[in-house]
Amino acid sequence: MDYKAGAIAHSNIALIKYWGKRNSHNNLPAVGSISLTLKELFTQTQVCFNEAIAQDILFLNGDRASAAMEERVSKFLDIVRFKSGIKYSAEIKSHNNFPTGAGLASSASAFAALALAASSAAEISLSPAQLSELARCGSGSAARSIYGGFVEMKVGKKSNGSDSFAVRLADKDYWDIVLLIVITADTEKDIGSTQGMNHTELSSPYYGQWIKTSSDDLKEMRSAIKDKDFVKLGELTEYSCLKMHALCFSARPALIYWNDLTFQLIHLVRDIRKSGIPVYFTIDAGPQVKILTLPQHVGYLRDTIKEISGINRIIETTLGPDAQVIGVMR
Ligand code: DP6
Repeated sequence: MDYKAGAIAHSNIALIKYWGKRNSHNNLPAVGSISLTLKELFTQTQVCFNEAIAQDILFLNGDRASAAMEERVSKFLDIVRFKSGIKYSAEIKSHNNFPTGAGLASSASAFAALALAASSAAEISLSPAQLSELARCGSGSAARSIYGGFVEMKVGKKSNGSDSFAVRLADKDYWDIVLLIVITADTEKDIGSTQGMNHTELSSPYYGQWIKTSSDDLKEMRSAIKDKDFVKLGELTEYSCLKMHALCFSARPALIYWNDLTFQLIHLVRDIRKSGIPVYFTIDAGPQVKILTLPQHVGYLRDTIKEISGINRIIETTLGPDAQVIGVMR
């Protein structure tokens, strides 16, 4: 017998960043985080548990995934097998509609879609919080991609992680914000987030301060969202991003995720802002620059950014929906 289901989950971008773990074994974050779910970037995943499958096998965008990725997914499915009592291995087919591993949070949408597809296939019914907790076991940022709109990941206190899941702050129609994702390189990142976080914790003298100041950043961001204060939201977003990268710069050896274009875009955004346009940047563990603005400024910003030579592509997106179960792909 087949236990089969499919799901779609959208990627997200953190306004207040998650960086660091309080427990690596259960993948528990050391800080809370706040994100926007993105409409245009998503992962669709199908999971099929079947007794005829000898070992878990993962196809990513049509190709067999690396052994390391298969192992990570297999470990994740062990949690679902444990919860459901299913003993079978699975075939997983996953498609991203955006470049994988270039700092566009592919693990967020990937593990959110996998959590929903695998739990549905295994016929275990989970509340959104439990689903978010499950997704977190695969990747911290995936816990947020269970919900659309504005989302907060709770740091939690318990060592088993049962209070470390995401909650919705506002839904996707709450506020018309646009994100322009400027692709400066399509290459895979050298040092993934998990490894980067670990290295920073072990070697940056600023790590303690990062943890200490986190709850104030979250509190301010919650109030910026509640008041629909775009300037405050933007300033806090840049602050959290630069604070995270300052941690990376202060690690030994330093972690530098940026390239020349990343720097150029940071300066461009700051210059445009001086001319009175509300525009702010954020950057994750990769060289892409994500630019936040309001709808009426998108045309001007796109035209201005396109003039920088070397920009591969700009993806424009608004806020996206919750993760959902979908029909299985044939
Ligand atoms: C910079 O969620 O990829 O994008 O839990 O180890 O899988 P793991 O990390 P991951 O880290 C995301 C880091 C970030 C900031 C963020 O999304 O909050």
